[in-house]
Amino acid sequence: MDRTEARQIAKHWMFPTAKSSYMGGLEERPILAQSRGSTVTDTDGKAYLDFQSGQMGAALGHQHPRIINVIQQTMQSLLHASKAMLNVPRLRLHETLGKILPHPLQKSLFLVSGSDAIEAAIDLARKATGGLDILGLHTGLHGSTSYLTRSLSFAWNRNKHAIVAPATSAILSPHCYRCPVGSTFPQCELQCLTTSMELADANFTSQPAAFIGEPILSAGGVIVPPPGYYKALRQECDKRGMLLIFDESQTGLGKTGKLFGFQHEVGVMPDIITISKHFGGGLPISAVCTTDAIAERAVNQGYFATRSHAADPLLCAAGEESIHIVVEEDMAGKAARIERRIHSALESMAKELELIGDIRGRGVLVGIEFVTDRDKKTPANAAVQQIAQTCLDNGLIFQLRGTQGDLNVIRLVPPMTTTEAEVDRAVSILYDAIKAA
Ligand SMILES: Cc1ncc(COP(=O)(O)O)c(C=O)c1O
Repeated sequence: MDRTEARQIAKHWMFPTAKSSYMGGLEERPILAQSRGSTVTDTDGKAYLDFQSGQMGAALGHQHPRIINVIQQTMQSLLHASKAMLNVPRLRLHETLGKILPHPLQKSLFLVSGSDAIEAAIDLARKATGGLDILGLHTGLHGSTSYLTRSLSFAWNRNKHAIVAPATSAILSPHCYRCPVGSTFPQCELQCLTTSMELADANFTSQPAAFIGEPILSAGGVIVPPPGYYKALRQECDKRGMLLIFDESQTGLGKTGKLFGFQHEVGVMPDIITISKHFGGGLPISAVCTTDAIAERAVNQGYFATRSHAADPLLCAAGEESIHIVVEEDMAGKAARIERRIHSALESMAKELELIGDIRGRGVLVGIEFVTDRDKKTPANAAVQQIAQTCLDNGLIFQLRGTQGDLNVIRLVPPMTTTEAEVDRAVSILYDAIKAA
């Protein structure tokens, strides 16, 4: 399909994309035809290094041969099945996932999208505690379903939506580069959390049920909470009988250099985690994982969560294989090595290029915040747009992120299988683009 034909189809048949959204103007961007490993190729045959891992679903590398193989095999035997009966790939996935979950997390249920899993995790916390109010971080993102997950996606301007879900509110994100209370870590003694919880107590409409957060706030600009933040938050949850939910959509299954992103937090064990994105190696499957006790308590209150395709053998088989790949091919180790290579290159660049204000992230989740002035930290939105365009022209794809309407953070998320040569090529394209901006 050539570009002219593609544009015509989009114009006549495709639902229009809101120009203000990050999906706006899709018609002008490359139209993808093929992918392999860390490379995607467009309809003109131009290859790009995919440093956004597709929509994060390709963190194991596009078209991982073991995923393709298991999909082909499962298609020959059992593609789709009734949820009213168990199927073998589903059982195998429960067991395989359960065995890698940090104790006491053990029980899993499967859904299709990341948003599905968040909705199910919130319902689970509400049923298990009898509470209602949910807290999230004010630059967090937890999905795009029209009611609950968008209401909890404070980074995504929830005022764009007609109505928000009741009993959902935000606390301040621990964003040390732009401290929301104008202080400095560690002298601040986590003032953002203390103030937030005082306000949350005043705002609760009932018994609170849970806090939900990402171990690293990805869409909000790759924000890594300071050491001890989540431990202190765990204590605040315990004081109030609230459960702690970690949304591991973007941080789970190796991407931060550990199996789960929360494992960087010393002494913190969540009650519930959700996984999605590359769980399935590119096919859509998500999971909610919790302890035996919490699952039991919720189910005794009538809790269940499902979708028509939630336990499809095809998706479950891909999910199981993705876990074997993560473990057997040491994806966490690969992510940690990529982190060292990218961060060291970026730190050298920052010595020379004043536009780089901050470098953040863990593993293959990397954030580079650009500012026009390092003291004032003025977001360099226009320069970042130009850098992104130059990189695209030169064969490197990534997404732009930020908070409060800014898009001044370049988020690099290479697949964990990206080679050193590919990392070096991407870094070199980026360097040239920043220098030219
Ligand atoms: C942290 C996080 N949670 C949940 C979701 C929602 O996942 P999905 O788009 O599969 O519904 C996303 C999507 O980007 C995400 O980044």
